Amino acid sequence: MTETTNQSTGRPSLPMQGVPQPGRDEVLHLPRVHISNHPVMAHKMTALRDKNTQPPEFYRLIKEIGALLAYEATASLTLETTVVETPLRQMTGQRLAGGIGVTPILRAGLGLAESFREVIPDVQIWHLGLRRDEHTLQAMEYYNQLPLQVNLQVCYAVDPMLATGGSAIDAINILKHRGIPRLSYVGIIAAPYGLLKLSQTHPDIDIYIAALDETLNDRGFIVPGLGDAGDRQFGTF
Ligand code: PRP
Repeated sequence: MTETTNQSTGRPSLPMQGVPQPGRDEVLHLPRVHISNHPVMAHKMTALRDKNTQPPEFYRLIKEIGALLAYEATASLTLETTVVETPLRQMTGQRLAGGIGVTPILRAGLGLAESFREVIPDVQIWHLGLRRDEHTLQAMEYYNQLPLQVNLQVCYAVDPMLATGGSAIDAINILKHRGIPRLSYVGIIAAPYGLLKLSQTHPDIDIYIAALDETLNDRGFIVPGLGDAGDRQFGTF
């Protein structure tokens, strides 16, 4: 592809044109980055990527993949002991210590938030609307329903697509300002460029993804990817 420039700014008219990107191998072993290698995940990811998968099936797959990710991402939650009466006798059991929050980055993150709710029914869901400008790839906040009172042990920012990383980085910044002690990011597909940016900007969070793709194209779309996860979940083509 030949490089084109915007005549008024002199900058490349395609936002990722000419931007150096790391390869997959360079980001495979970043600290606190967890990339699924589960065969059931790989099977579901292939169906999700298929361009012939229609929105109802696509949404169902997002929720199933999200449940597998939620199971993985909650594996290190803190527990507290509690006494329980079984039909036979009393025993000491365990329950989750402290609240758990999930912040779907609207709108594509909604399906993943539903997955978390199915795995842990009493999660709090805090909606955050970020829209990526197609020309600059900058994320803009347009909706914020984060409560003022925070009493959580962890909050998960969830969004299927980690492309340049701008939306995820902004979401974590916003959540950090709420004073939540522990934050994680959960996504489905990541480009090496966005994964490296998120990991370097927020080295204190855990990052869980289902698949690491090859690159971003000149327009900032993940390749091979799955298209637009928001449009494919909600049928807005
Ligand atoms: C997409 C996607 C992420 C973001 C990823 O959302 O769901 O939120 O772009 O790009 P980034 O890593 O470069 O920031 P989009 O802005 O298209 O909104 P939508 O969820 O409403 O489709």
